[in-house]
Amino acid sequence: MIGADQARSRAANRRWWDADADDYHAEHGAFLGDADFVWCPENLREADARLLGEVEGRRVLEVGCGSAPCARWLRARGADVVAFDLSAGMLRHARDAADRTGVAVPLVQADVCELPFTDAAFDLAFSAFGAIPFVADSAGALREVARVLRPGGRWVFSVTHPMRWMFPDDPGPRGLTVIQSYFDRSPYVEVDQDGVPAYVEHHRTLGDRVRELRAAGFVLDDVVEPEWPEGFEGRWGQWSPERGEIFPGTAIFCCHLPG
Ligand SMILES: C[S@@+](CC[C@H](N)C(=O)[O-])C[C@H]1O[C@@H](n2cnc3c(N)ncnc32)[C@H](O)[C@@H]1O
Repeated sequence: MIGADQARSRAANRRWWDADADDYHAEHGAFLGDADFVWCPENLREADARLLGEVEGRRVLEVGCGSAPCARWLRARGADVVAFDLSAGMLRHARDAADRTGVAVPLVQADVCELPFTDAAFDLAFSAFGAIPFVADSAGALREVARVLRPGGRWVFSVTHPMRWMFPDDPGPRGLTVIQSYFDRSPYVEVDQDGVPAYVEHHRTLGDRVRELRAAGFVLDDVVEPEWPEGFEGRWGQWSPERGEIFPGTAIFCCHLPG
């Protein structure tokens, strides 16, 4: 097995997302929008789900923002948003989108495991598939998010549903066959021609996530498993109607800190 500790995971993912930023937005930019808030490939929108509650006037942190369409959507609704990402390439797309829309939010380049913000700086933190699946020390990342939230603050984040770990990343019939154990926590690692990790993702079971959230001090309010909308034909990598109609692709953890 190829190791991917925290430092290697960070280095790999920073390089990966810098290199992939243009392709990612060429492929998914239209789905994500310039100032829109989509939680997941199942097309669940914050405008409908309202998982963040009231946002007007709230100090909000977007974790692993990519080009930050969600942060701009919230800014347009009166939130005081800061967005951060590890990748300068992804943040360049955020700046371009701010120019296109005229909606700017402060952008910070940072690692979720070492946040450059003071304690209790935010009322609310959220992430749509950002940062958390890519860090080896996800327990430490959650402690950092808890640190920068005020008591009573809310934390909502979407990730690939843990049960997808068992299946190949294939939107078609091949993606319906179990190929590995749900309980195998070995990271998914792609290496470059020199054997250096070039892309890393880390698996946590549902129970792992719950325990890490509780250890960071969070109260878990809900785990939303968006169902595939009837008639929706969208595709995103391994997400497809064929798979989405029979098992979940996304888990959205909704938590808060005790007040
Ligand atoms: C799948 S993209 C999601 C981006 C955005 N939320 C979206 O929906 O398009 C994952 C993002 O997580 C960021 N990321 C990966 N590791 C990170 C880390 N350790 N700290 C902060 N961001 C990280 C990547 O740079 C990338 O922009």
